[in-house]
Amino acid sequence: QWTTASIVDEQVGAVREQIGDGRAICGLSGGVDSAVAAALVQRAIGDRLTCVFVDHGLLRAGERAQVERDFVAATGVNLVTVDARERFLDALAGVSDPEEKRKIIGREFIRVFEGAERDLKAQGDYRFLVQGTLYPDIVESGGGTGASTIKSHHNVGGLPEDLRFELVEPLRLLFKDEVRRVGLELGLPETIVHRQPFPGPGLGIRIIGEVTAGRLETLRAADAIAREELTAAGLDRDIWQCPVVLLADVRSVGVQGDGRTYGHPVVLRPVSSEDAMTADWTRLPYDVLERISTRITNEVAEVNRVVLDVTSKPPGTIEWE
Ligand code: XMP
Repeated sequence: QWTTASIVDEQVGAVREQIGDGRAICGLSGGVDSAVAAALVQRAIGDRLTCVFVDHGLLRAGERAQVERDFVAATGVNLVTVDARERFLDALAGVSDPEEKRKIIGREFIRVFEGAERDLKAQGDYRFLVQGTLYPDIVESGGGTGASTIKSHHNVGGLPEDLRFELVEPLRLLFKDEVRRVGLELGLPETIVHRQPFPGPGLGIRIIGEVTAGRLETLRAADAIAREELTAAGLDRDIWQCPVVLLADVRSVGVQGDGRTYGHPVVLRPVSSEDAMTADWTRLPYDVLERISTRITNEVAEVNRVVLDVTSKPPGTIEWE
């Protein structure tokens, strides 16, 4: 029967067959998908897998430490962290268009991996690249069913022509809920398996407008507060994810103490979903919304307004870009 254990067995077998006695690199994004893909390939080929974690500077607060500490503790994988923060900021300078941002981030990702691969060549021939691509990613990028492209998810649409890796995509037939079950079956802890999804392009597609170091810092602070309060309220398992979006090109007038402010709004985008193909906006309790709003406007100097996105998907996508 089509049990989680049989999915794992089948995919472990398929990965062993595809990779043979070769070596593979897996880019960890900090999300569930790449973590489960990596754990599955680790199960199949052991220490012939090396994970590469790119700190592209578009991460949320604490995410790098979580990968370096929790994921390594759970799996024992070889992990290389590459600090590419400046490189991504340089590449994104002056760019506001969402699709252009996604393409740049996808392209830089591959280039950084290729750099990491060259460094690893001394230890053996790394020919395979593991990716945590899911079925919905393929469908929405137009790769699966001939559907038109909605967004070029960077791990499907943005690969350069001269890609020198053969792709290993052990989750490509699965939906998110199946991926979580596979992760548990592989012995990953709940904190990793039930981590909410986070897009590969990260905070880069949650800043509406140009991405700068200062704007990233602002969004990271607001996002950390929203996540803290949602966790404290015990709501993590009730919502699919809650993007916090910085409207960096919008300003509005506010007042704080005696002073007039002219700051930016952030948008809370809490959604409920089964597989991200469709979603409803989550009816968060008013007292939780109030705490998030009060804390963000008190603690993040550049933000003077918090607004709530009450759009389902469709017509809105989950991310704003
Ligand atoms: P949308 O915005 O298309 O998002 O409704 C659906 C789900 O996919 C995530 N997402 C991405 N994940 N690379 C990813 O790995 C991407 O480029 C990307 N864009 C969106 C999003 O967070 C949501 O869970």
